[in-house]
Amino acid sequence: MNLKEIIKKDIQKILVNINLKSTCDPIIKLNKKINLGHYQINNLIKISNELNLTTSDLANKIISNIKNNNIYKKITFSKPGFINFFICKKFLSQELEKIFFSSRLGIQRVKPKNIVVDYSSPNVAKEMHVGHLRSTIIGDVTVRVLNFLGHNVIKANHIGDWGTQFGMLIAYLKEKNIKNIDVSLSKLEHFYCKAKKKYDIDQSFAEKSRKYVSKLQKGDQHCYRIWRKIVSITMSENYKIYKKLNVTLNNHDTMGESLYSNMLPNIVQDLKNKKIAIEKNGSTIVFLKEFKNRLGESMGVVIQKKDQGFLYSTTDIACLKYRYEKLHADRIIYYTDFRQYQHLMQAWIIAKKAHYIPENLLFEHHTFGMMLLKNKRPFKTRDGNTIKLSTLINEAVEKARQLIKSKKTTFSKKQLINLSNIIGISSIKYADLSKNRNTDYIFDWNKMLSFEGNTAPYIQYAYTRITSVIKKSSIPTKNIKEKIILKTENEINLTIKILEFEEIITSIAQKGTPHIMCQYLYELATCFSHFYENCSILFAKTIKIQKSRLKISILTAKTLKKGLNMLGIKTVKKM
Ligand code: ARG
Repeated sequence: MNLKEIIKKDIQKILVNINLKSTCDPIIKLNKKINLGHYQINNLIKISNELNLTTSDLANKIISNIKNNNIYKKITFSKPGFINFFICKKFLSQELEKIFFSSRLGIQRVKPKNIVVDYSSPNVAKEMHVGHLRSTIIGDVTVRVLNFLGHNVIKANHIGDWGTQFGMLIAYLKEKNIKNIDVSLSKLEHFYCKAKKKYDIDQSFAEKSRKYVSKLQKGDQHCYRIWRKIVSITMSENYKIYKKLNVTLNNHDTMGESLYSNMLPNIVQDLKNKKIAIEKNGSTIVFLKEFKNRLGESMGVVIQKKDQGFLYSTTDIACLKYRYEKLHADRIIYYTDFRQYQHLMQAWIIAKKAHYIPENLLFEHHTFGMMLLKNKRPFKTRDGNTIKLSTLINEAVEKARQLIKSKKTTFSKKQLINLSNIIGISSIKYADLSKNRNTDYIFDWNKMLSFEGNTAPYIQYAYTRITSVIKKSSIPTKNIKEKIILKTENEINLTIKILEFEEIITSIAQKGTPHIMCQYLYELATCFSHFYENCSILFAKTIKIQKSRLKISILTAKTLKKGLNMLGIKTVKKM
């Protein structure tokens, strides 16, 4: 149930019924001070200006026309331009009752769409570094939320597993006579760096590398075997990281660049036939008037180089065609940082021009900012190197271990390891997810591991407190038949917060913004604290009130757990 949506629709209906046509949707907000009403319209002034009415006139019309149904207890106008909605306690308790007995917290499945989520997408023969964290964990939240709503989600890990780098690597392995390539990923990366250096300065080595690329492309058995091995070493390391991060990606989701390589010659030919691409100085280029170069001319997107090689863009054009034709995508969402915006837009425009995808295919680039050090510089080691994701994870786990130990709790060795893993990793994830993805953020160990504020440990701890209260009551939690009774302001506040969950889920499904879930969970946990301080549960006056409060607590715990689950964050029993 989405109360904001209900109120919004009610108002829209009234405006239509009394023949007022407004182009802007009423914006409904949850009120911070509930003595002024639980919800309010925030843009009444704007709507009244558009309709040429005074704000109070419009407010009166809305208030007098709203059906006196069982939702609203009272609706008031307050100056300069607010309409306040007070919701009936009875309605709130009925709604809470419904979701208490629902396994999905009352959230209905939607009409399913085929949605491709392109995320993580590291490059082969290199270890993942901190730069891959955001795409991987933010993308995974969107996947979890869309899945929960019942969509058919196709996770696409568009790994960089094709191109000249493999020619270089194979040439290098040959030259150094390295036969055993059963090596670690870091060794492989070391070979790759050496190969790249050589490629840049040594003409004949570069020539050899190109030969190997072309052999690989033509399906040469030997080169293919080496390539397969390199991909497999890389991905098995990456899957270990995904598992540690509690990210849902697995080997079925790998759809790297190589998947589209067979399509590329035909795409280039077809774009030429359709006069979308032209040949210029030996390269094949698409000129797009939608993008201008420094001289104000249409920008050229090269899709085949002079040496016949294809490019990152060519692959993404083919990939769009594939996702539409083969995967029947209705919506495609990309999680890469803002620097790839132009690249993705160009691929999208070209694919539309060539009619590989229809105009109405939803194409969304969900960008994100960077992780920064305290001095606001990019997140790198002192000597300017990128930090490996595995190093960051290990450090987080170690820091969490020290923190837990310092609290002098009595955990067994095994419990301590398990708990440090969960808390350490949740902390980095939550710190990232709780920031608006569009902005850069400063990475701060102390803040993220703190038990206060909008952090993973705070929410996880809140969860353990609630579950321990529930346990202490020794009342079986499944089938409490007594109805929920809402009396105090704290109970009502908490109820409204619990009921807001659906709106949060819907909004993340649209915008891919996990930070609103974090903010929500923080507010929910805070509301619970107020409720807990003011409304005794274990020593409630009557058993009826006790059971009612217990039900509200159970729902809070379930919502916290589900919310954390949508973020890919685990809960613990004790911490
Ligand atoms: N592998 C790329 C990189 O590391 C990201 C791929 C994003 N997805 C895509 N379809 N281009 O930058």
